[in-house]
Amino acid sequence: MLDLTHVRAELADHYDLAPSVELAQATQDIYARMDRVVTPADWAIYAPYVVAINELKKQRNAVILAHNYMTPEIYHGIADFVGDSLQLAIKATEVEADVIVQCGVHFMAETSKILNPAKTVIIPDMEAGCSLAESVTAEGIAQMRAKYPGAPVVTYVNTTAEVKAASDICCTSSNAAQIVAALPDDTIIMTPDQYLAQNIANQVPEKNIVWWEGSCIVHEQYTAQDLKDFREWNPDTRIIAHPECPPDVVAESDFSGSTSGIIDYVTREKPQKAMLVTECSMASNISDALPEVDFVGPCNMCPFMKKITLEKVLFALHTMTGQVEVDPAVAEKAKLAVQRMIDLSRELGI
Ligand code: 13P
Ligand code: SF4
Repeated sequence: MLDLTHVRAELADHYDLAPSVELAQATQDIYARMDRVVTPADWAIYAPYVVAINELKKQRNAVILAHNYMTPEIYHGIADFVGDSLQLAIKATEVEADVIVQCGVHFMAETSKILNPAKTVIIPDMEAGCSLAESVTAEGIAQMRAKYPGAPVVTYVNTTAEVKAASDICCTSSNAAQIVAALPDDTIIMTPDQYLAQNIANQVPEKNIVWWEGSCIVHEQYTAQDLKDFREWNPDTRIIAHPECPPDVVAESDFSGSTSGIIDYVTREKPQKAMLVTECSMASNISDALPEVDFVGPCNMCPFMKKITLEKVLFALHTMTGQVEVDPAVAEKAKLAVQRMIDLSRELGI
């Protein structure tokens, strides 16, 4: 576990990180991207970190790949590229810088390392895990194969490298339906997200989809009744759900898609009121670009994504700690499954 007392002492020795109105003023161009959701007082706290990180990125020849669930000061303040899991994986293959700092969760950093092994890949907190990635092991994949002989295993990228290595092809929430539909087999094993699998089974009824019983602790909390109640009270709200939500929740929504699919939908449709049935930072991150949209309703926080903070990013880049390594033999096999997904997605025009 990261010792925050040590982190703070080390940073205090090398950087002036006191809240600064001067630095806040000097970085108004960055702040303008989030001024509807971050107060000026908070920006005065964040600005010294943002300035230090952006400077250190140059010195280390590093890029920051950030997931759409990062907080606004990370998403708008220090990221070089933001996106959903598929976009981040594709971007990782293209990085030329020496260092990738993954602002997201561990499986995302592992995927970057698998796809671009020559790079130093850093995750600012090794404990940024994922309940889906924890839910299945390579042994679990072997059990599914024994139960459904001959059926291909389509594994969500929210898994460890060992699980990917034991799978035939990966998928993300933005390409799962198309990948499943494109496979020649009738029976398909989907791991580890039971709800994503059930949602895909509804979209691709010609396939017999069987699944592992994992779930996302953020999205499984929503209920169809919550959405019905909300709609009754607020009938003109557009409800948009991530496909990690249970199928009855997705059925109650107006649109379902990956995190980038959600951003594209809201950007295109510009509903007067939108409820994003997903992680809380999503709405905050797009709020400034869409002032005409009123983001309403409840959201749930991912405790793993929220382990990534400006302080930990600065410490990781300063000390070059948090480097992600994957056993080369495992990485080689896992890469096949991830690359198959990327290649098939390209072929399918996703
Ligand atoms: P996306 O691929 O849609 O960004 O989802 C990743 C994730 O962890 C959602 O919970
Ligand atoms: Fe994992 Fe859910 Fe967090 Fe995404 S939101 S990283 S699926 S726990």
